[in-house]
Amino acid sequence: MEATIVSDNVKHCPVLLNEIISVISPQHGGTFIDCTFGQGGYTKKILNFKNTKVIALDRDKDSQKVADVISKKFPDRFLFKNLKFGKLNNLKLKNENIKGVLFDLGYSLTQMKDVNKGLSFNSTGKLNMQLGLNDFTASDVVNILEEKDLFKIFKFFGDEKEAKLISKNIIKERKFQEINTELLVKIIEKTKRRKNFKVHQATKVFQALRIFVNKEVSELIYGLINSAKILKKGGILAVVSFHSLEDKIVKSFFKSLSTNKSFSRYEPLIEKKKFVFEMPRKKPILPTEKEMKENFHSRSAKLRYLIKKEEIYEIETDILEKFNEYLEIENLSNKL
Ligand SMILES: C[S@@+](CC[C@H](N)C(=O)[O-])C[C@H]1O[C@@H](n2cnc3c(N)ncnc32)[C@H](O)[C@@H]1O
Repeated sequence: MEATIVSDNVKHCPVLLNEIISVISPQHGGTFIDCTFGQGGYTKKILNFKNTKVIALDRDKDSQKVADVISKKFPDRFLFKNLKFGKLNNLKLKNENIKGVLFDLGYSLTQMKDVNKGLSFNSTGKLNMQLGLNDFTASDVVNILEEKDLFKIFKFFGDEKEAKLISKNIIKERKFQEINTELLVKIIEKTKRRKNFKVHQATKVFQALRIFVNKEVSELIYGLINSAKILKKGGILAVVSFHSLEDKIVKSFFKSLSTNKSFSRYEPLIEKKKFVFEMPRKKPILPTEKEMKENFHSRSAKLRYLIKKEEIYEIETDILEKFNEYLEIENLSNKL
C-alpha cells in the first residue's frame, strides 16, 4: 500500500523505480507529470536526464518542503502543485509535449507515521485519515453515517468479510461515546470471529475508511481519464497500484482503451471503436525478489502501462458507468 519507505533519517525507497524509468524512457527528454510526487523519488530520477521537465502534483502540502529543495536545483525544469490528480485538467498545459504521466498510488510511510494524519491503526486519538485537500474526516464517517452505509464502505472498499457485524457494533458503541482510533480498533478486534494472524484485524476497515475519506475511487478514475486526454501521441501512462480495488480499476480502464470493441452478433450496427492506446503487456510488472526482500512494502506493487496511439474519443461516459457502483458508495459522503 505504501510505496515509499522513509526511515527516521528520511531515507526513501521508491517502488519499481528502475522499471518505471525503463518504461517511460526519460533519456529521450520531454515533459513528465508525476501525479504522486510524495518524497520525489520518481521526479528526482527523471530530472537526472537532460532535456526533461517534471510537473509534479501531490494533495499533501507536506510534500512542498521536498519540492522546494528540488526547485532550487532545477528552477527551469521542475514545477510543483499542491493539487489532486483528479483535477489534472486544471493544469494549463497548452504547449507542453507530455511524454509520460505517472501514478504511484496510495501513501508514503512518512504519511503513515504522521500521527496527525491518523492513517495507521497504531495511531491514537481522533480519527482523521485525510491526505490533504479533503472535505471530511474518518471521524465524521464513523460517528455520523448510518449502519448500512458503513457496511457498504467496509465491504466494497475494504473487502471486509465481517463488515455487517462491525458496522452494527460501531453504531451500538457510539451511543455512549465518540469513536476514536483506539476505540475503533477495539470494536473490530472484539467483533472479528475469523482471526488472521498475518495481518492486523483492523487493516481492511482502515483501508476502506482511507479510500472513502480521500475519495480515492473517483480520484483515480478522473486522474486516468484526464491523463489519457493530455498525453501526446507516443506518450506513456504508467500506474503503480497496491491493492486489488486500485488494480481492478486500472486494469479495466486500460483494457477499455486498448481493445477494439468486438462486433456483436445481435447488434451488427455497433460501430467498431478505434483503439487509442496500445497495451504492450497484459500482465503487470512486479518487483523483483531482491526488491521485495529489501523493501517489504513493495510486495503488493503492480506496474501497468499504456502507450498512446491516437487522439482520444469521448470515454468519460463509458468509464463512469463501469464504476458506478463504487462511485455511488463514494457519494454517501453527501450525507456528511
Ligand atoms: C506512494 S506515495 C508516492 C511516492 C513517490 N513516488 C516517491 O517516490 O516519493 C503516494 C503519494 O501520492 C499522494 N496522493 C495520493 N492521492 C493523491 C491524489 N488524488 N492527488 C494527488 N496526490 C495524491 C500522497 O499524498 C502521497 O504523497
